[in-house]
Amino acid sequence: MDFAEAVRRRRMVRAYRPDPVEPAALERILDAATRGPSAGFSQGQTCVVVTDADDRRRIAELCDEPAYVARGFDPWISQAPVHVVVCTSRTAYERRYAEPDKAGSDPPAAWDVPFWWVDAGAALMLLLLAATNEGLAAGFQSIDGAAVGAFLGIPPEHAPLGLVTIGHPAPDRPSGSLRRGRRPAVETVHHGRW
Ligand SMILES: Cc1cc2nc3c(=O)[nH]c(=O)nc-3n(C[C@H](O)[C@H](O)[C@H](O)COP(=O)(O)O)c2cc1C
Repeated sequence: MDFAEAVRRRRMVRAYRPDPVEPAALERILDAATRGPSAGFSQGQTCVVVTDADDRRRIAELCDEPAYVARGFDPWISQAPVHVVVCTSRTAYERRYAEPDKAGSDPPAAWDVPFWWVDAGAALMLLLLAATNEGLAAGFQSIDGAAVGAFLGIPPEHAPLGLVTIGHPAPDRPSGSLRRGRRPAVETVHHGRW
């Protein structure tokens, strides 16, 4: 699949067939997530991959999956054969910017933009696009980081950003948010000056 097609085809999918994801495909998807940019190449992002069905059911409970079902969606979180919890570590950036070659750079405490979250967003997008590129589908679910972190034994240094579901797509119900339509280029891009 070429890049433009992967970008166009990517969408958040909220229904999955039960078929497992081929391990080699999952490995390629997870590798893609490590290929993103990061401030100072701090690479503070880590993924926790969950495939065990009971564990996925528990995570779905922690994400209040019944609320989706009550709104007419499939139980898409527990259905997805792969869960990837994306985590980011501010501490990794603090450690990196304390290294000798970063003397003279502002430390993370002085940054206007928390780049550990920016870089986690880049890793997240790579996961989503890489899944699409494999002919799979992916979704994103915000999570109670403390609850999911405790369940998965994630060390406090690594803040969970959210849950990516990956699997083979089933026909799904599009999110009502899509009715808003995509903003036109005249609003999203300014040339020369705002
Ligand atoms: C930061 C972020 C948080 C999101 N949280 C949720 C969520 O909790 N549940 C959900 O079903 N979709 C969630 N989404 C998916 C958005 O609803 C979706 O990206 C948006 O409607 C556009 O649809 P598309 O990604 O299919 O183009 C989230 C997306 C982002 C980027």
